Amino acid sequence: MSTVSSQQRAQARLADVTGVDDNAVLHGLSMKSVYVYEAPVRLWHWINALAIVVLCVTGFFIGRPLPTMPGEASAHFLMGYIRFAHFTAGYILAIGLLGRAYWALVGNHHARELFWVPVFQKAYWRELFGMLRWYAFLSDRPGRYVGHNPLARMAMFSCYLLLTVFMVLTGFALYGEGAQMGSWQERLFGWVIPLFGQSQDVHTWHRMGMWLMVVFVMLHVYAAIREDIMGRQSIVSTMISGHRTFKD
Ligand code: HEM
Repeated sequence: MSTVSSQQRAQARLADVTGVDDNAVLHGLSMKSVYVYEAPVRLWHWINALAIVVLCVTGFFIGRPLPTMPGEASAHFLMGYIRFAHFTAGYILAIGLLGRAYWALVGNHHARELFWVPVFQKAYWRELFGMLRWYAFLSDRPGRYVGHNPLARMAMFSCYLLLTVFMVLTGFALYGEGAQMGSWQERLFGWVIPLFGQSQDVHTWHRMGMWLMVVFVMLHVYAAIREDIMGRQSIVSTMISGHRTFKD
């Protein structure tokens, strides 16, 4: 590793904020691999991914139940199991989000990227539009990023974080109705229902949220695999091992 000058350190600090490391982190500090995602972040990512799949599948059937099964509903309890799976995954999603927020406070600086976007930095927007051009096949060389790329960061914040908070708020508001007046779910989240009008409106918004989440998941998986193949750094394996490796 080359000797690190104060200018290189300053560049690396800038890279931390903007996610841009082309000259700074890679060339300046001659790094080949960087430890990015700590174990709790990786564990959360995969548990969360599973919870979202369960929530989307079971949620779809809650809104559009399966054709009637023969016999008494209480005998096969099918919708009961589907709802139970939904609520269990809902709790896992919500508790996971709290745990992830805690880790943003105590983990490394990459753990904080999900929770804020450096919108006041010119360099950030320049890089974001650079990535947009790359995804639109208008440029032939993307940037190199240690953490999330600037576009991914914006997408994670707005399409994942805010949407998940929305799903938790509306989900627990609906849950509070079933748990009845005075339950902690109703006391903490009951205010959400009048905000949207009435219970059926919350159902509708919660369901619309599911479709947004489905679109997000599809784009997220597409972008991750595409970047793994065409980009300049590892993506999918980084969320398994924690290490970002660079191709050039
Ligand atoms: C990614 C997150 C989530 C997705 C994609 C999702 C999806 C859905 C969908 C599509 C419905 C059916 C809405 C309808 O048409 O009536 C539903 C219902 C419901 N969800 Fe979620 N949900 C999520 C998170 C949560 C969370 C965190 C909770 C909290 C426990 C929750 C609790 C409920 C409840 C109570 C219902 C109504 C059940 C019923 O009426 O039988 N959901 N969800």
